[in-house]
Amino acid sequence: DKGEYRHFMLKEIFEQPRVIKATMEGRVTAKKVLEQALGTSAGDLLKSVRHVQIIACGTSYHAGMVARYWIEDLAGVPCSVEVASEFRYRKHVIQPDTLFLCISQSGETADTLAALRQAKKAGFRAALAICNVPGSSLVRESDLVMMTQAGPEIGVASTKAFTTQLTALLIFTLALARHNGLSEEREAEIVEALHRVPGQVEQVLALDSAIAEMSGAFMDKVHTLFLGRGSLFPVALEGALKLKEISYIHAEAYPAGELKHGPLALVDSDMPVVTVAPNNAMLEKLKSNLEEVRARGGELFVFADSQANVQAEEGLHVLSLPSVHEVTAPIVYTVPLQLLSYHVAVLKGTDVDQPRNLAKSVTVE
Ligand code: F6R
Repeated sequence: DKGEYRHFMLKEIFEQPRVIKATMEGRVTAKKVLEQALGTSAGDLLKSVRHVQIIACGTSYHAGMVARYWIEDLAGVPCSVEVASEFRYRKHVIQPDTLFLCISQSGETADTLAALRQAKKAGFRAALAICNVPGSSLVRESDLVMMTQAGPEIGVASTKAFTTQLTALLIFTLALARHNGLSEEREAEIVEALHRVPGQVEQVLALDSAIAEMSGAFMDKVHTLFLGRGSLFPVALEGALKLKEISYIHAEAYPAGELKHGPLALVDSDMPVVTVAPNNAMLEKLKSNLEEVRARGGELFVFADSQANVQAEEGLHVLSLPSVHEVTAPIVYTVPLQLLSYHVAVLKGTDVDQPRNLAKSVTVE
């Protein structure tokens, strides 16, 4: 039931504050991650993990890419991420004491399941699933399971599944990091930041009509470019995927530092450039990347931290977002990009919940 909402996708976007909170429940206290967040037997396992191999497809793969930044930064554990359809068809080396982590909303994605089954033969320490569907094949075939509490996701374009995956992945990262030298103070700082996320997402949702207004500029465009740096690069990838899926506008995402290595050649006044700019260590570098775009006449749409001091000017549209902790920024900054794609698709009159050529669950190769 869509209730008061015009589409399931919009309803699911607006459910995010609640389902993110639900995914934290029973897993964190005010200041720390509970040992049982990953099941009672997880403590010994997490102590022995020396490497994390993440496998997923599509949006879930983007969640895995964000997690790699977290896992290496906070836990200092090497982490690889690969799309399942590539991993399963190449000879791969699984390092000793690898935790094999599959991320899937449905738990039935054929390539992800095939990768897990194959890796089992190659040997690894244990398999952890981050999944939204209880009783799915992925859940049944994994040693450890963290359920996301997104509830049924009907819209084909994944929204609340992604932000709850990120929530679960951050909790997992903290549980792993605690066995790898993360201080209690730092853990408390990040858990407190996570508790603020549902409220911050609420604040972003309140920008819905401002974002709807912005979406008009995209309606007649053929190409768009999404930029982000660090853990916000995968958020740019996810924003581009959403726009492609439901508005059929070609969207590419680049880590902003790669601009001058090629994609800058594409920039002109017909190609809007969307950028996510939280207030982090990369902000100054990102600003100079934006200058490179401005100098070529590209029109910029920047979602920026209200403290980041990015000023609107001719050809530079700024939407101010609440100040967020650097670690949780990928969760919060995903939401305006979901809303942007949604409104562009509505303006274009596409079938938002059932985009052409796509299925909700990809159970065949
Ligand atoms: C994008 C989308 C797909 C899925 C992908 C994996 O909006 O929904 O890219 O993310 O097919 O599906 P799951 O997570 O069910 O394995």
